[in-house]
Amino acid sequence: MGYSLRALLVLTAGIAFTDSSVHGLPSSSYVLHETRTPTGTGHVNSHRQWKRGSRLDPHAIIPLRIGLAQSNIHLGYQKLMEVSDPSSETFGKHLSQDEVHDLFAPAHETFDAVHSWLLESGVNASDIRQYENKGWLAIDLPVSHVEDLFQTQYHEHEREGELKIGCDQYYVPRHLSEHIDYIVPGVKLSPPVVKRSLERRGDTSSRGYRKGWRPKQMPPDLLSLTKKPPTTPKLPADLQDCARNFTAVCYRALYQIPETSHPVAGHEPAVYESGDTFAQGDLDAYFHKYAPWIANGTHPKILSVDGGEAPVAPDSEFNTGESDIDIDIIQTLVWPQTMVLYQVDDRLYTTANNYSGFLNHFLDALDGSYCHSTAFGITGDSPGIDPPYPDNRPGGYDGKALCGAYKPNKVISISYGEGEIDVPKNYFERQCNEWLKLGLQGSTVLVSSGDFGVAMPPESDSATGCISGSGQNQTIYNPGNPVSCPYLTSVGATQLEPGTTVLDAEGAMQTNLGPGAELFASGGGFSNYFPAPEYQKATLSKYFAKHDPGHPYYVANANASNIGENGGIYNRAGRGIPDISANGANFRAFNNGTEGHWFGTSLAAPLWASIITLINQERARIGKGSVGFINPVLYANTDALTDIKQGSNPNCGTSGFTAVEGWDPVTGLGTPKYPSLLKLWLELP
Ligand SMILES: *[C@@H]1O[C@H](CO)[C@@H](O)[C@H](O)[C@H]1NC(C)=O
Ligand SMILES: *[C@@H]1O[C@H](CO)[C@@H](O)[C@H](O)[C@H]1NC(C)=O
Ligand SMILES: *[C@@H]1O[C@H](CO)[C@@H](O)[C@H](O)[C@H]1NC(C)=O
Ligand SMILES: *[C@@H]1O[C@H](CO)[C@@H](O)[C@H](O)[C@H]1NC(C)=O
Ligand SMILES: *[C@@H]1O[C@H](CO)[C@@H](O)[C@H](O)[C@H]1NC(C)=O
Ligand SMILES: *[C@@H]1O[C@H](CO)[C@@H](O)[C@H](O)[C@H]1NC(C)=O
Ligand SMILES: *[C@@H]1O[C@H](CO)[C@@H](O)[C@H](O)[C@H]1NC(C)=O
Repeated sequence: MGYSLRALLVLTAGIAFTDSSVHGLPSSSYVLHETRTPTGTGHVNSHRQWKRGSRLDPHAIIPLRIGLAQSNIHLGYQKLMEVSDPSSETFGKHLSQDEVHDLFAPAHETFDAVHSWLLESGVNASDIRQYENKGWLAIDLPVSHVEDLFQTQYHEHEREGELKIGCDQYYVPRHLSEHIDYIVPGVKLSPPVVKRSLERRGDTSSRGYRKGWRPKQMPPDLLSLTKKPPTTPKLPADLQDCARNFTAVCYRALYQIPETSHPVAGHEPAVYESGDTFAQGDLDAYFHKYAPWIANGTHPKILSVDGGEAPVAPDSEFNTGESDIDIDIIQTLVWPQTMVLYQVDDRLYTTANNYSGFLNHFLDALDGSYCHSTAFGITGDSPGIDPPYPDNRPGGYDGKALCGAYKPNKVISISYGEGEIDVPKNYFERQCNEWLKLGLQGSTVLVSSGDFGVAMPPESDSATGCISGSGQNQTIYNPGNPVSCPYLTSVGATQLEPGTTVLDAEGAMQTNLGPGAELFASGGGFSNYFPAPEYQKATLSKYFAKHDPGHPYYVANANASNIGENGGIYNRAGRGIPDISANGANFRAFNNGTEGHWFGTSLAAPLWASIITLINQERARIGKGSVGFINPVLYANTDALTDIKQGSNPNCGTSGFTAVEGWDPVTGLGTPKYPSLLKLWLELP
């Protein structure tokens, strides 16, 4: 796995400033395979952008990786609907892991076709390596050879003394385009390469943590502006002030969640964490104050993935709130059921903040077929996007990357994400198919939709992240990944409006949380990469017919190369986000020993994870299986949700979208009505 030191050293020595060889147009038997999408997100400071430099020396050796296509992927959606659509005869008949694996394993002819093409081009068979996962072919080749193979040109790209290599677009022979997913280095830059004249300043610690939507606290000066609502005689004392101090009692009242949970083995919900790490002291303080029936010392079963470790001390710089709060919410609502924590990736990678991939290792750990398999197994990590293991640096995880080590849980909650545009479309499609496979096996994956309205924070928690393209400058909406994948359930956030109680209607979460988060608002919008899935189509047509948001739009093409066309700011044909929502405002919880008021869609995914767990348990008690991929059921049964009709999610210099009657790209179908959802799912087979 990973890049051999040799290859990198050769490359280092081989970089020179020539720009001699020039390619003509690609031959007609070639087709364009991938092209760089419009400029990435939020490069407010132009010096943070990667600048294209010289052509690579034709003799420099580059480590080429070719991702092979899986088979039957086109059947995936249909298969998922067969087990998830309530009107299907095979509803609920989930597949086993082996069945899923056999269904999608890359065909022998895929491997053969690409392999023989390489041989014909003069490559030595003994030099071609197959990744452990069989999803990749790897070979170190001179730049000139790779440029010929893919009819492209490689350039250096520089940013703040860091150097990467990549091309703007590349072509493949027509007969191979269905067999090749994508290549690395390609339109996604390589991992950094070393160039001695450009020593990097070794500061990775100051860049903060990656990918967390990271729930945010309301700063004291803003808190002091909130007013206690007048006493409501109809409500007990602990429900008087939920709009300012949201607790487990408020959740239960608002969504009619029962106080009893009947634990069933195998239904322990799981939470994904990476970088951020919980502290036992914070959990204890929370349980002590808000769930005193849970003993101090209670914590999830910790499953480490590739060097992830938990817990840390409360005052650790790695304890930033996400894990504490995800665990507080789930553990409290499902107790005495226990829960599972996947702590993913070693400290070096999670703090370096320079890999855009952050879910593949988790998926590898759950699905052996994703990373290695007996035959021409399915896909795996992408060099340059996912950190490679073993990580031999001091303090790194020097074991092998986990593969199929854990059995997928029936409910998985993820409060992490990044901009959709931050990963190449092919990479994301491949990963999205993994969520599909989990759905096929009966798992429900709930992902929070982001906190910056119609855009994503690019690196840190800043309110930029809008896309530039087609002549526009940071004005195009940027939905998130993984939430824009249509095979998982995206969860937005709501709030009790100031001065209201749990007896009143909620609105979309939208709050000023101070500098950098003035527009903290429920993430939503339309994917640029994924078209609207069938289960959502009627809902979206209705939305546009009745509540057209009025913004200029475009229809993204298959390669997403026309983002922002004709002045459009969102993709009218994209998968709509979020699917559902739940309260994500003023949640009282402890972090580093101090109690705060927390906000974010980060809170909404764990709430739904708790609800689905309780429902799965009730189904299990009458001999029924887990609910699996819930979207088709929800879109067909909107009565089981409370429609949210106020609030909006501004960003990118616009008002964003507005919550309206029916589904909307701010709060989705709405918040849970637990008794209705339970009834619905108890009746389904
Ligand atoms: C192929 O590899 C073999 C064994 O390493 C070597 O003898 C031969 O010269 C190589 N051929 C080419 C064309 O590189
Ligand atoms: C990220 O940073 C680490 C540590 O500096 C480095 O080893 C790794 O190659 C970098 N990866 C990428 C993709 O930039
Ligand atoms: C509720 O929150 C407000 C700030 O919004 C705070 O002043 C008050 O003390 C909190 N009440 C309780 C009981 O914690
Ligand atoms: C549990 O932990 C909390 C917070 O540290 C503490 O205040 C409380 O006294 C502890 N309870 C017991 C029974 O030890
Ligand atoms: C944790 O709290 C302590 C005491 O209030 C403070 O000194 C420390 O800086 C905090 N640590 C972090 C990482 O915020
Ligand atoms: C894009 O907008 C930013 C912020 O408003 C500005 O600094 C930058 O110069 C603009 N870039 C271009 C190419 O117009
Ligand atoms: C993208 O796809 C469109 C058709 O949808 C095609 O016309 C165009 O050439 C493609 N462009 C690139 C850069 O791949």
